[in-house]
Amino acid sequence: MTPFLSISILGCGWLGLPLAKVLLAQGYRVKGSTTDLQKIPVLQKAGIFSFCLTASEKIQGNHVDDFFNSDIVVITLPFRRNFKNPQEYYNQIQSIIFECEKSKKVQFVIFTSSTSIYPENIAQADEDTVFQPEHDRSKVLLTIEKELLSNQCFNATIVRLAGLYGSGRKIGAFLAGQKDLMGAESSVNLVHQDDAVGLIQEIITQNVRGEIFNACSDNHPTRRELYTKAARQRGLAIPEFIAEERNISKVVVNDKVKRVLGYQFLHPDPMEDID
Ligand SMILES: NC(=O)c1ccc[n+]([C@@H]2O[C@H](COP(=O)([O-])OP(=O)(O)OC[C@H]3O[C@@H](n4cnc5c(N)ncnc54)[C@H](OP(=O)(O)O)[C@@H]3O)[C@@H](O)[C@H]2O)c1
Repeated sequence: MTPFLSISILGCGWLGLPLAKVLLAQGYRVKGSTTDLQKIPVLQKAGIFSFCLTASEKIQGNHVDDFFNSDIVVITLPFRRNFKNPQEYYNQIQSIIFECEKSKKVQFVIFTSSTSIYPENIAQADEDTVFQPEHDRSKVLLTIEKELLSNQCFNATIVRLAGLYGSGRKIGAFLAGQKDLMGAESSVNLVHQDDAVGLIQEIITQNVRGEIFNACSDNHPTRRELYTKAARQRGLAIPEFIAEERNISKVVVNDKVKRVLGYQFLHPDPMEDID
């Protein structure tokens, strides 16, 4: 039996909404946010207590205190590629941390980070790997992770998600027909939506705090294998790669979620998920 009753999901988007539905089905009281007023009825229809909130330097919206009056907060804000300055993301997360601290009720924060935090030249990236951030975005992510994990007001767990697919996000759809692509022999690190949701659900149910988890499927086909199969299966032009010397390519290791959470992947092999 879980000790938690209420969960607030900041960002009921592609990942947050199905997560909310799964948690509702488990009997939690779920609050969820969107930045888009028009999406409120969708959330309400699913049984989610809905809030229209936007995080920037501070959280804007109505009933902010009510939203943060929960036992757990799950942060699924996207680190958009089009941020002019990655610091914008840092500021958004800081505004959320501020509200969590102020709330006095929040005991546990789960943050969806990214496996892009690991440098590309790490052959086996597990959660204990010590690395230097390769670019400003990973520097910001690492800082956020550290600040969450060391927070004195609540516990935190970090989920480093690999590339997300499933439910409308088709593998490699954007690469069909492209030419002169790099990294033919690089390993692909992906995770299906069902497993991303399933893992977060397990973290909550098992109340596993203070950890970092990689969320990535078992199998790591090369870019050439995966995207060629995807294009072929859909009758699209096969993407063309340029010849390169084989470099070390990053493989995100998923042993820890199996060992600590006992998690079994529903979609261990992205090659089998091309439809
Ligand atoms: N996409 C990938 O392959 C990938 C890889 C690694 C990690 N991740 C991480 O996975 C998580 C979930 O991604 P997703 O694909 O579910 O993203 P998404 O579909 O874009 O959903 C993000 C949610 O956050 C809300 N949101 C966006 N900006 C906000 C802001 N400034 N203040 C408050 N709410 C805001 C959105 O509001 P609206 O409902 O109004 O849109 C939406 O509900 C993110 O943390 C992302 O960084 C993604």
